[in-house]
Amino acid sequence: MRPFFAIAVGLMLIGCAATPAPSDDRPLYDRLGGKEGVDLIVDRFILNILSNPELRPAFAETPIYALPNLKRKFAQQICDIADGPCTYKGLDMVAAHEGMDITLAQFNAMGREMQAALRRYRIEDGAQRELLTLMGRMRDDIVGK
Ligand code: HEM
Repeated sequence: MRPFFAIAVGLMLIGCAATPAPSDDRPLYDRLGGKEGVDLIVDRFILNILSNPELRPAFAETPIYALPNLKRKFAQQICDIADGPCTYKGLDMVAAHEGMDITLAQFNAMGREMQAALRRYRIEDGAQRELLTLMGRMRDDIVGK
């Protein structure tokens, strides 16, 4: 190999090694995979909820044709709270859950189902914690209404 060529290849390799990994200070929405990622996570989340005997009864009045709209609202809300480019336009959390008498145990079970969906898609731990914390802040608007 000619020396110049060898140096050029060497510099290119160093350049590659020095290329920074995607930075962790990206908005949470991006770390969740953006629109495509959040849609997948919400799909899984809904399947988990409907498979959970503690949560499924709360959705007994929700017909299958209402699920796409519910998924859209969940995804829009996550996008909003995770600093994505959306504004949540659904009902506020008190109005959405009024009269449902949701227990703290159900609320926590919902958090666990979201965590299972996040793990399923190998979302990094920091992003998992951030989203669950943001959702946890809604507790007093949802439980016991
Ligand atoms: C952090 C936790 C939760 C969040 C972020 C959340 C979010 C939402 C959102 C965005 C909607 C749609 C509101 C609209 O129609 O505009 C909704 C509806 C609903 N939520 Fe929740 N929710 C949570 C916990 C729970 C729990 C624990 C239960 C029951 C065990 C529950 C049961 C329902 C039901 C039954 C609906 C109505 C579904 C329908 O359209 O038929 N939610 N929730």
